[in-house]
Amino acid sequence: MKIMVTGGAGFIGSHLCDRLLAQQHSLEVVDDLSLGREDNISHLFSNPAFRFHNCSILDERFDEIMAAGSFDVVFHLAANSDIQEGSRDRRVDLQRTFQTTFAVCEAMARNDVRQLLFASTSAVYGDVSAPAPEDFGPLEPISFYGAAKLASEAYCSAYAHRHDIRSWVFRFPNVVGARATHGVILDFIRKLKNNSSELQVLGDGNQQKPYLHVHELIDAKLLAWQRVQPRPLEVFNIGPESATTVRCIAETVVEEMGLAGKTRISYQNQPFGWPGDVPRFAYDLRKIHALGWRARGSSDNAMRRAVRDLLAESEV
Ligand SMILES: NC(=O)c1ccc[n+]([C@@H]2O[C@H](COP(=O)([O-])OP(=O)(O)OC[C@H]3O[C@@H](n4cnc5c(N)ncnc54)[C@H](O)[C@@H]3O)[C@@H](O)[C@H]2O)c1
Repeated sequence: MKIMVTGGAGFIGSHLCDRLLAQQHSLEVVDDLSLGREDNISHLFSNPAFRFHNCSILDERFDEIMAAGSFDVVFHLAANSDIQEGSRDRRVDLQRTFQTTFAVCEAMARNDVRQLLFASTSAVYGDVSAPAPEDFGPLEPISFYGAAKLASEAYCSAYAHRHDIRSWVFRFPNVVGARATHGVILDFIRKLKNNSSELQVLGDGNQQKPYLHVHELIDAKLLAWQRVQPRPLEVFNIGPESATTVRCIAETVVEEMGLAGKTRISYQNQPFGWPGDVPRFAYDLRKIHALGWRARGSSDNAMRRAVRDLLAESEV
């Protein structure tokens, strides 16, 4: 198939490109490198089935790329992935998370592209106490990032119904692994490389969320794409059945860096890392399990594997 991947130079997008090319698809990546890195995809440049456009989705040129590509499918991953930045400047998620989705849907409708796989997030649920199924509502996101993703989901739905675009919406958990461009693990590694004697953690360390290795996330997405024909839109929660505390992540990073007993880990007296951070979250995963996908390991194992991936990468 002929596939466009937006945000393909980012963390998850670059792993997705590797997998789609291995499955003999032909790819064009659109990424403005605002958060992603050319390094994440430079190993693909010599592949004739791969093409990279260094371009913003919000540029006029994006429509020309969509028009010229004769795409069958768009995997839309481009967004602002820096949730804290979205709290500091409330325009960031409006523009880079929501307006990018609008621009993708609009260009697809104008150019008769019929399949959309959208990268959404658990942040659309907000601060809910029980495991949330896909049809949980009303949805009350507490971050501007979550709000922009929820608005994006709504536009995916309207375009699916009005323009005959089949849409798979995936609500990702915390995704971890090599090539990460952001996130708590990378943040701790960077802090410790800067000062190994102390690690200051945002929040009281008891924040607890599901962590999934990026390779497993891609397995789940591709399985749902293969097995389910949305009429016209289907939403999937994806995650492991367990969760990991920030305290456990801090201790694991310290241990894997060989700093156990040498680093003092300090916490704050507040239950969240920053305003808009959901302290605890759990999914209802029955829908994706019924398709035959289940996370292979625990959230703690995925997190430790990612710590090792990122440390190995930073030594290269
Ligand atoms: N990583 C996670 O834990 C996680 C969790 C839930 C949802 N998601 C979603 O998955 C997707 C991928 O996340 P990621 O972790 O790989 O983030 P990432 O920041 O590594 O990737 C996003 C990519 O989008 C690009 N981008 C941003 N604005 C753009 C624009 N206007 N035009 C073109 N490209 C643009 C960035 O340069 C970056 O390469 C995002 O939509 C994110 O919201 C990620």
